[in-house]
Amino acid sequence: MNYNKKVLITGGAGFIGSHVVRLFVNKYSNYQIFNLDALTYAGNLENLKDVENASNYSFIKGDITDEAFIEALFEEHNFDSVIHLAAESHVDRSIKDPLAFVKTNVIGTMVLLNAFKSHSGGNYDGKLFYHISTDEVYGTLGDTGLFTEHTPYDPNSPYSASKASSDHFVRAYGETYNLPYVITNCSNNYGQNQFPEKLIPLFINNIINNKALPVYGDGNYTRDWLYVKDHAIAIDLVFHKGKQGETYNIGGFNEWKNIDLVKLLCQQMDVKLGRSEGTSEQLITFVKDRPGHDLRYAIDASKIKTELGWEPSVTFEEGLKKTIDWYLDNGTWLDHVTSGQYQSYYQKQYN
Ligand code: NAD
Ligand code: DAU
Repeated sequence: MNYNKKVLITGGAGFIGSHVVRLFVNKYSNYQIFNLDALTYAGNLENLKDVENASNYSFIKGDITDEAFIEALFEEHNFDSVIHLAAESHVDRSIKDPLAFVKTNVIGTMVLLNAFKSHSGGNYDGKLFYHISTDEVYGTLGDTGLFTEHTPYDPNSPYSASKASSDHFVRAYGETYNLPYVITNCSNNYGQNQFPEKLIPLFINNIINNKALPVYGDGNYTRDWLYVKDHAIAIDLVFHKGKQGETYNIGGFNEWKNIDLVKLLCQQMDVKLGRSEGTSEQLITFVKDRPGHDLRYAIDASKIKTELGWEPSVTFEEGLKKTIDWYLDNGTWLDHVTSGQYQSYYQKQYN
């Protein structure tokens, strides 16, 4: 088969990456999709069982920080485009081991940028480096206001500082070497296949197992939640229609205080599990706050809406129900990812 684009997706075995890989493999049979992933604790090929035998899909196990390996990979395949999602992504882990975040998120991005640049030989026709980033680079909001594409960067955690740094390098390569890039900064994702260290899947798993729900601080922190498949749709749109050298914010228009979200989750889980109303709420436990905890994130996604016509298609209530159903139907997936390393992480984080 003659493909008309070779697309490298990094971090495709992770949460968001697996939804992006699936969308691209199924929608673009004329693209050859390469999924490069180191399969860290967060990477799981079970996420992609349904597309693993597709003729336009290949998985490559490898580390984006391994310069010689990445150079050789670009030499072999001469990718047209990169959609870069591989990262260390959990804020709590970044507080315990910041250097791991600098290595993957900063150095790894640099290694990819260098390989993309050197193998293009200065001819960027039809090429694109698409960097997936986060709203956390903007720091925190007070009770009002929204993050726009012009909000100054002000990261507060080692995770967000590493993502901010990688964003700056992508932009700098655009300015200095004319490298064609686009960046998107997205709010909190939730949905199927999210590793149960992040708030929603962690709490679903704990409710199933009648374990305490550790709410940090007073629970009055606000996040803007987006269903992961809507993020994947936005990525597809920006990849094909986004303006080079631009940043787009992506958000859910959907702010929730943690404590309200947790209560809604408890109510929905009680219904699904046939438990009497109020059972799961009794598991809520207020614990020591996250250091440097950002008070509020909220995205102004009007640029992507106006310029590219994107907006979320799934309501929060609907998305949360689909998410809960998926975790309840995929106990084996949960068992696989919550054994071994996960147990020792949990002990260190919460005890
Ligand atoms: P995730 O932790 O679920 O997945 C990350 C993937 O990257 C895993 O498959 C992992 O194996 C892989 N990886 C890690 N280090 C690697 C390395 N050195 N080389 C190759 N692969 C490596 O993360 P996610 O939540 O899916 O996030 C994906 C991207 O989206 C990240 O860049 C993150 O910063 C960004 N993002 C996430 C959210 C969110 O709410 N989860 C929101 C906005 C932006
Ligand atoms: O905003 C986008 C970001 O969203 C992404 O860039 C990150 O990769 C992703 O992890 C997420 O970061 P958060 O720190 O917002 O997500 P997390 O699920 O870890 O926490 C959500 C909120 O819930 C936050 O205010 C902290 C709180 N929390 C989290 C955990 C894990 C708790 O109260 N208890 C917990 O045990």
